[in-house]
Amino acid sequence: MREIADRADVALRPHVKTHKSPEIARLQHGGASGPITVSTLAEAEAFAQEGFSDITYAVPIEPGKFVRALDLARRVRLHLLTDDTAAAGALSRAASEAGVRIPIFLEVDCGDHRCGVDPGAPQAIALARQIAESPSLIFAGLLTHGGHSYAATTLEAVRRVARQERDATVEFADRLRAAGIAVPVISIGSTPTMTQAEDLSGITEIRPGNYVFFDSFQAVHGSCTFEDCALTVLAAVVHNDGKRVVVDAGAIALSKDLGPRDLDPDSGHGHVLDLEARDTGWRIGNLSQEHGEIDLPSGADAARFPVGSRLRILVNHACLTAAQHERYHVIEDGRVIAEWPISRGW
Ligand SMILES: Cc1ncc(COP(=O)(O)O)c(C=O)c1O
Repeated sequence: MREIADRADVALRPHVKTHKSPEIARLQHGGASGPITVSTLAEAEAFAQEGFSDITYAVPIEPGKFVRALDLARRVRLHLLTDDTAAAGALSRAASEAGVRIPIFLEVDCGDHRCGVDPGAPQAIALARQIAESPSLIFAGLLTHGGHSYAATTLEAVRRVARQERDATVEFADRLRAAGIAVPVISIGSTPTMTQAEDLSGITEIRPGNYVFFDSFQAVHGSCTFEDCALTVLAAVVHNDGKRVVVDAGAIALSKDLGPRDLDPDSGHGHVLDLEARDTGWRIGNLSQEHGEIDLPSGADAARFPVGSRLRILVNHACLTAAQHERYHVIEDGRVIAEWPISRGW
């Protein structure tokens, strides 16, 4: 992803919600504590503590978090985002009272329809102007996330979303500039769109996250191959009567993300790998809180893995799974070479 960013001459601001690990974030920046995106203020605080000083909190800010955010903004360069006139006004007053000037992005909806302003609506320009004219806010620019790339079922459809991310922000930035509003940063990105994007002209930074691990979803989707996937959950066989094999990794350990059911109806809740990460062809079927029931294909040799055997589960959605755990066991050449903590919470 660093190469993709370098080739397109854009900054890489990886989304660290995928791993919540300062060690991994430094790997993403070739050893440096470079710019990052976070999904909670707890992540922002934990990474700030670890020396990361340029952080974007990429969920719209709301008044209940002003005190904490403004406090952190005294210590690091913290970017916030908004799509709400009243929240932006309230933040402006709170920042002024706190004696802090804080950079804030206007979030744009490029088709995902989760958060963000409609870039074609007159209110969008009015909100950008309101931010730019507020003495205690700094208009950082435009930010969007093509999350609807996850619903695309062909690579061409992913590329279309990548074009929407770029075009919606770059064209809106042109209109803002024509209206006299400077737009320093245009920030876009998801893992599917950034692995497929053909044109990043006009963009200044990208924020993919999942690519650092990839997962079963991304492999089925075409962002990577199964061999590229880095994260698995180590599980123990707790029941094996020859017909049913059950592991001690259930919904809490794996998450219940269904994966790309449209593209791979048999993906289950994860691929069952052996300790050397070879796919057994088995899939995790039913999940309860701490039990994962394996769907055995007909003729499967269940006796290969008696009770007590260890298996590795390649999950559908690495980000949701990693967030359930307290630490990574880092494996190189079949040996655990490090344990890295995961900064969870809100
Ligand atoms: C605002 C925002 N930016 C960037 C990302 C990273 O996307 P991905 O996990 O597809 O790499 C996300 C993921 O949800 C996000 O919500």
